[in-house]
Amino acid sequence: MKKASALIASHVSKSFQLDKSKAVSVLKDISLTARYGEFISILGVSGSGKSTLLKCISSLLEPTSGDVMINDVAPYKLNNRKLAKLRQENISFIFQSYNLVPALPVIENIALPLHLSHKKVNKQEIRDLLRQMKFQADMNSFVNTLSGGEQQKVAIARAILSDSQLIFADEPTGALDSTSREVIFDLLRDMANRGKCVFMVTHDIELASYTDRALVLKDGNIYKELQAPSAQDLYQALEIDKHN
Ligand SMILES: Nc1ncnc2c1ncn2[C@@H]1O[C@H](COP(=O)(O)OP(=O)(O)OP(=O)(O)O)[C@@H](O)[C@H]1O
Ligand SMILES: [Mg+2]
Repeated sequence: MKKASALIASHVSKSFQLDKSKAVSVLKDISLTARYGEFISILGVSGSGKSTLLKCISSLLEPTSGDVMINDVAPYKLNNRKLAKLRQENISFIFQSYNLVPALPVIENIALPLHLSHKKVNKQEIRDLLRQMKFQADMNSFVNTLSGGEQQKVAIARAILSDSQLIFADEPTGALDSTSREVIFDLLRDMANRGKCVFMVTHDIELASYTDRALVLKDGNIYKELQAPSAQDLYQALEIDKHN
């Protein structure tokens, strides 16, 4: 049987009401489709709407208008219980300062989705993965005592081990040193190669050039969509002069 599209967004718009008379329009009529096995990067200057788009397409933030389908299900039409189930079974979020439980140790944070779906927790596997990610802190430390980059790694380890079909990452390498940056990127690349659908918001043009498709946002629209983008294409699309 043919697998469903991983994600379909149709005419998604998002505006925020600032006060009674003032609203700001952040996303304007965005449509996109993503397949399993695809690694998609989202780029654009600060404030162009990248994080808002990622939230809207990943079931976290209901668009003002338009439709989103994740794995053939419309998340914003579900009740809370079904929405939680959809997320638990299909989706991993790698958002800094978003989805870790501060009062739980690293290992428990990583194992949480496994516990929730009654899967076996293999501590050695967690230990090996953290070592591969060059995670320096103790596995038993509480996540609120970790640095931003270490917290990022905990979120990524959790996404990898929970085996979700869709992964949404907002600047997953933003807080990392250059070695960790490459290790984490390779893990995300590998997840896409193994058939997951991975979205990554990034300011990192070099890394984006190793994704399958880049969406460049400008003023709330997809300004450019590039298949197998080269770094050169991306610099051009972002109107950045490399030599500056
Ligand atoms: N809850 C909100 N209420 C009002 N305005 C918002 C809200 N969330 C985002 N915005 C506005 O929407 C615009 C886009 O924000 P967003 O966080 O999506 O940008 P971004 O492209 O992710 O930027 P960055 O690269 O700095 O992370 C910004 O102007 C921001 O102020
Ligand atoms: Mg952002």
